[in-house]
Amino acid sequence: MKIAVLGATGQTGRLIVALALDRGHEVIALARRPDQIAARPNLRVVRADVAEPGSVPAAVRGADAVLSGLGITKKQDPGILIDGALQIASAAPRVVWLTSLGMGATEGALGSVNGAMLKRVLRHEWNAKSVAGQAIRNAGGTTVHAGPLTGRPYDGRGRLIPADEFRPRLLPPTAPRAGIAALMVAEAESPGFADTDTIALFGR
Ligand SMILES: NC(=O)c1ccc[n+]([C@@H]2O[C@H](COP(=O)([O-])OP(=O)(O)OC[C@H]3O[C@@H](n4cnc5c(N)ncnc54)[C@H](OP(=O)(O)O)[C@@H]3O)[C@@H](O)[C@H]2O)c1
Repeated sequence: MKIAVLGATGQTGRLIVALALDRGHEVIALARRPDQIAARPNLRVVRADVAEPGSVPAAVRGADAVLSGLGITKKQDPGILIDGALQIASAAPRVVWLTSLGMGATEGALGSVNGAMLKRVLRHEWNAKSVAGQAIRNAGGTTVHAGPLTGRPYDGRGRLIPADEFRPRLLPPTAPRAGIAALMVAEAESPGFADTDTIALFGR
């Protein structure tokens, strides 16, 4: 498959790129600074910035799937998340969008205390994450809501579940970035959750 990765220089995006290449896919890595990505066979690095209209849609044209690890800092305009989602939502047959558990379609999933804490910590991007996720869903894509991301190795025991099957728990379930990459690439290869908000769970 031809897989495009938005946010390819990010902590999760890098793992998505590496895994997709390892699995034999042709990969287009979208980066604001292409020099941040080392060359590999089957990898094309394209300069693209959500804030520069047209660059993202042009970069992902012809891809079978677009996977997003787009994320912003507090200094960035949160509208970047919405623009990024709108620019890729209909750009490929399969779109998989990484976002945060407890926000947007999964608001409330962490219970009232943790939910309120999350809203306080992430207030900068709270509304934008919700609108961005909705844009992906409206276009038939898959959102992957993850709890706190970790650098732990992935033991293969990860799965996506539909968001409405999640039972709220006291502590948010953590998610190894490597596992998120694996689940997102797997969803691109064999879609099981088109047009669905999902939650990534790991372990038993
Ligand atoms: N941290 C957590 O515990 C956690 C938990 C659940 C979900 N999430 C969400 O998961 C997503 C990925 O997280 P992460 O920690 O892997 O992200 P990250 O390391 O912060 O990477 C973000 C990526 O987005 C890119 N980006 C930012 N602005 C851009 C623009 N205008 N145009 C194109 N690319 C742009 C960055 O490029 P540059 O390298 O050029 O800056 C980078 O590649 C985020 O949405 C995050 O909120 C995080």
